[in-house]
Parts: sequence; structure tokens; C-alpha cells
Amino acid sequence: MDNFTFWNPTKLIFGKGQIGKLKSEISQYGKKVLVVYGGGSIKKNGLYDKVMNELKEMDAEVFEVSGVEPNPRVSTVRKGVGICKAEGIDFILAVGGGSVIDCTKAIAGGAKYDGDAWDMVANKAQVSEAVPFGTILTLAATGSEMNSGAVITNWETHEKLSWGSPHVFPKFSILDPENTYSVPRNQTIYGIVDMMSHVLEHYFHLEDNTIFQDRMCESLIVTIMETAPKLLEDLESYNERATILYSGTMALNGIINMGYRGDWATHNIEHAVSAVYDIPHGGGLAILFPNWMKHTLHVKPERFKQLAVRVFNVDPNGKTDEEVGLEGIECLRSFWDSIEAPSKLADYDIDDSKLEEMADKAAYNGAFGRFMKLEKEDVLSIYRASL
Ligand code: NZQ
Ligand code: ZN
Repeated sequence: MDNFTFWNPTKLIFGKGQIGKLKSEISQYGKKVLVVYGGGSIKKNGLYDKVMNELKEMDAEVFEVSGVEPNPRVSTVRKGVGICKAEGIDFILAVGGGSVIDCTKAIAGGAKYDGDAWDMVANKAQVSEAVPFGTILTLAATGSEMNSGAVITNWETHEKLSWGSPHVFPKFSILDPENTYSVPRNQTIYGIVDMMSHVLEHYFHLEDNTIFQDRMCESLIVTIMETAPKLLEDLESYNERATILYSGTMALNGIINMGYRGDWATHNIEHAVSAVYDIPHGGGLAILFPNWMKHTLHVKPERFKQLAVRVFNVDPNGKTDEEVGLEGIECLRSFWDSIEAPSKLADYDIDDSKLEEMADKAAYNGAFGRFMKLEKEDVLSIYRASL
């Protein structure tokens, strides 16, 4: 286990009816509030009206950025930055999924950054302050509600890049499982794959002595796998929505990965696909992750074996570590097939015509991934296996 300092200042407000806490959480920051949301799901499910009522009761002066795209674009970030700078916004409220929250983080940082928001994202500029913001999460997936990272797309240049700063942790996040009832089946599945992938990204590392961390990761995956089929039977079941919502946050808020750093190559490989084809992040991960696993199985087969035995109950008797590990990978593939996650790039009509372009994007900054350093050729072979 490596040395570590854990710090996560986001206040998590979880459960039914917690929107009632909104006024007291925001009012300490001021009255000029910028509300950021997506393409209209919050208007359909009634959450928008509830939020506006709360803000009215605190006499807020409300500004809006709407239409944040899934895979949020820097053009929308710039709109929000413009409003913050022109109006002197006191507080930003994100109401939506990971895309809305990521867009909000970039607006919050960009509003205090002198240059263009894309320069901030692309150069990984560390801002020294940000406009304070909170979130009302509506989709369980990214963990963005309790971390300090954001993923922003520049559609002109077809780049999708990660950026983060300690200044863009949300001040609070309200997680009411009922706000996720209306998430459609396909987005629910993508979210499940995304949070499982976050745990897997952590899990494949080269550090020794992460006994408790391993058990936390395994427990999270088992929990998600037990819950997902029940949730997909009944998309409005409170208990299952609550378990999945909590799991998504825990998968990427820094708690399960203290003392080691995971691989994270598959996210990079997927972001390059989304940058070119604008596919849902979780859908891309469902296709690519098992193929990344097969590609890297030889690096530390005992880690794959541990996952296979503890999570997928593979019987290790009389088999090599690689054989057991491979069975585990097939179990993961079967599970994702069973919940109808996509399994090949062709599911999104992606053929081999742009594999080079995507591999160049993924490997733009040179070899990447901590469990195994991937060169462009490795990425290409993972893409080819995913066709
Ligand atoms: O835009 P609206 O109308 O709100 O509809 C959204 C969108 O179409 C819909 N939705 C969200 N909540 C809903 C709902 N529909 C009905 N009822 C609700 N309650 O779902 C669609 C997808 O939303 P989006 O926010 O894009 O999904 P997700 O939360 O999966 O976020 C994906 C983005 O986050 C990035 C991804 O790369 C992608 O850009 N990630 C961010 C991370 C982070 N900040 O830590 C880590 C992740 O690995 C990921 O890369
Ligand atoms: Zn992800």
C-alpha cells in the first residue's frame, strides 16, 4: 500500500425528499444562482418545477444553461462561463447526470480562469478557485457527484478530454433515488456498466498489500451484479435504485482506492471512441473492457484469478491462473450480455474505417495505463478485437 492523504469535501445528502435541504445549502453562498441542466428530462419528470419552487422560496435570481449534451461540449461550457462572468453568479446548481455535472465543473472553473475554457481543459490547467456549485444527481453512473473530475468534448476537433481540480468538488450532492426512476432502461444499463468499470479500473493495479481495498472493490461489483437484474425488472423500485445510486458514488469518490492507483487505460480508449462517434460512455466500456482484460491478462494473471474466484465463483481447481482469469472475463462478458449491454463496436455501426484515428487520439500523449503501458498498436488490437 502506498502512502496517501484522503480528502473529499463533498457533503452527500442521500434519500427520499432531500430536495427540501436545497435552500439551506445554497443560501449561504448568495442569491444569484445559475441552474445547469440537460435536454429536458427534468422538465418531463417534474424535478425542474420542484427545483424552481425551492429557489423561489429563497428569493434567488435564477439564470439557466439548458441543453447540456450527453458527452458535454465545450461550446456549452463557454455559454455558462459567459453568464457567470457577466452576471457575477454566486452559485451554480447542476441538475442531471454526469454530463450536466461535468459541464458545471468546467463552467465553475472556467468562470475563474482568464483564458478560454478549452485551454483550461486541454492543458489540464489547475485553477486556483472556482464558483461554488452543488448537484442534484438524476442518473447513477459516473460518480461525478462526489469527485473532482470532468470529461469535456470539443466537437470541432473531435477530442474528449478529462480535466480536474481540487476546487471542483461539489459543495453538496443531493441523491434521491426517486429522481432516477425515469432513467430509461438503456441509460440505466450504461450506468451500471460504467460504475462496474470504475471499480475494475481501480482493481487492476501493481501495488502490493491492498487486502481491504480489494475486498471493497469485490463487494461493490457483487452488490451491483446482484442488484442490476432486479432493478431492470422494475425500474421504479426504490431499494434497487438506492443501492445502484449509492454504488455509483462509492465506485469513484476515492474511498475504495486509497493507497494505490488503478489502470484507467480503458477509459482513455473509450473516450477516443466517443470523441469520434459520440456513443454513450457506458456502452463503449461494455464493448471494450473485456477485450482490454484479455489483452492484459498475462501481466498479472493472479489478479484476474482473484477476481474470477471471488466475484464470479469460478472453480480454480486444476487450472492455471490464466485459465481461471479468462473464465472470469467470460463471466463478466456474460453478465453484461445478460443485462443487454452492447458487446461489439458494430452495435453502434462502427466499422474498421477510423480505428487508426481513434488509436492516435487514445495514445496522443504517448503510452498510457498503469497496469500495463499501452502503445498505439495495443490500442489498435483492442479495437480490432471489439469490432
Ligand atoms: O439531458 P437529459 O434530458 O437530462 O437526458 C439525459 C441524457 O440523455 C438522460 N437522463 C439523465 N437523468 C435522467 C435522464 N433521463 C430520464 N430521467 C432521468 N432522471 O440520460 C442521458 C445520459 O445522461 P448523461 O449525463 O450523459 O449520462 P452519464 O451520467 O452516464 O454521464 C456520461 C458522461 O460522464 C463522463 C462520460 O465520459 C460522459 O461524458 N464521465 C465522467 C466522469 C467523472 N466526471 O468522474 C467519469 C466517467 O468515467 C465518465 O467518463
Ligand atoms: Zn466511466
